[in-house]
Amino acid sequence: MASALALVSSSLFLTFLSSSSSSSSAELLRFEHPTKHDGSLSLIVVGDWGRKGECNQSQVAKQTAWPESKTRPSRSPSPTSTRPRVFRSNVLGNHDYRGDVLAQLSPVLRKIDSRWLCLRSFILQTEIADFFFVDTTPFVLKYWRRPKDHHYDWREVSPRNQYINTLLQDLDGALKESIAPWKFVVGHHTMRSVSKHGDTEELLEKLLPVLKEHGVDIYINGHDHCLEHISSKDSSIQYLTSGGGSNAWRGTYTPNDDELQFFYDGQGFMAMEVMAASVKIKFYDVFGQVQRAEFNKALRYVYQAKNREMRISRVEEKEKGRNAEDRQIGRVRR
Ligand SMILES: *[C@@H]1O[C@H](CO)[C@@H](O)[C@H](O)[C@H]1NC(C)=O
Repeated sequence: MASALALVSSSLFLTFLSSSSSSSSAELLRFEHPTKHDGSLSLIVVGDWGRKGECNQSQVAKQTAWPESKTRPSRSPSPTSTRPRVFRSNVLGNHDYRGDVLAQLSPVLRKIDSRWLCLRSFILQTEIADFFFVDTTPFVLKYWRRPKDHHYDWREVSPRNQYINTLLQDLDGALKESIAPWKFVVGHHTMRSVSKHGDTEELLEKLLPVLKEHGVDIYINGHDHCLEHISSKDSSIQYLTSGGGSNAWRGTYTPNDDELQFFYDGQGFMAMEVMAASVKIKFYDVFGQVQRAEFNKALRYVYQAKNREMRISRVEEKEKGRNAEDRQIGRVRR
């Protein structure tokens, strides 16, 4: 699969919850994933693979096995599971849309391998973090208006506006309901990036406000073939790019207004260790060397408090405005 993003977790199983269950915003399918015995989650993020092993793709694949074996529980939990099972949750990228999308989404694939999960947009729930997978390709206008020589498979997506609006509404509802300590949004396209593709304007305009509104902690993406961490200056959101699954070394660097924490232009991947109130992030290169290690505590609470104040003052402003308007209308009517 070209250009997709995988979350590989080393914990035990994935239970399917039927779409008709639970809540009013159940438009997005929900899946449940247990945490490890110590209550944490381990996952690997690989983006933009799919070169038949070339461009260091095989090296990246080989190295992804390394941290996974490191996170294996030392005491064997049960006789039946000597090693933790790995599940791969995928989102489609622009290259996937240039092929037969319906074949890639086919439930037949899960029948062949139950560890595989690929849908357009869905939610993966765990006790400590909710992952919202968002289908970002349809947002990008140029794929619709100026596809050049490419053919994009918009079956079950077109018309664009309706698709995007429904998706944003569903996401908004699901984020509002989420009570997990961490909220992670996963999409193929960049929100913020200093590399070749740069920012995706359509996502900054349409998706980012929804993420900010609900105090999303991290946006994870691929698309730019490198590794990056950028911090938003006016919210708690951290933008993490893990797009180094194959072709890399683009040699482009264009800074933006947000704060660049880390940029590695070569191949590699990202590993995350998520705990209830903190997250460890490591970016690995093709040799399995850690290029960057971070320890982040939940920033959201600080920003949420700030946002709440901002929202309250905005509502008050509005109220004041409305009262003034009412008085005016009253005067005119009188
Ligand atoms: C593979 O990785 C090495 C080490 O980062 C790099 O020097 C080399 O250029 C890479 N090869 C390709 C084809 O990108």
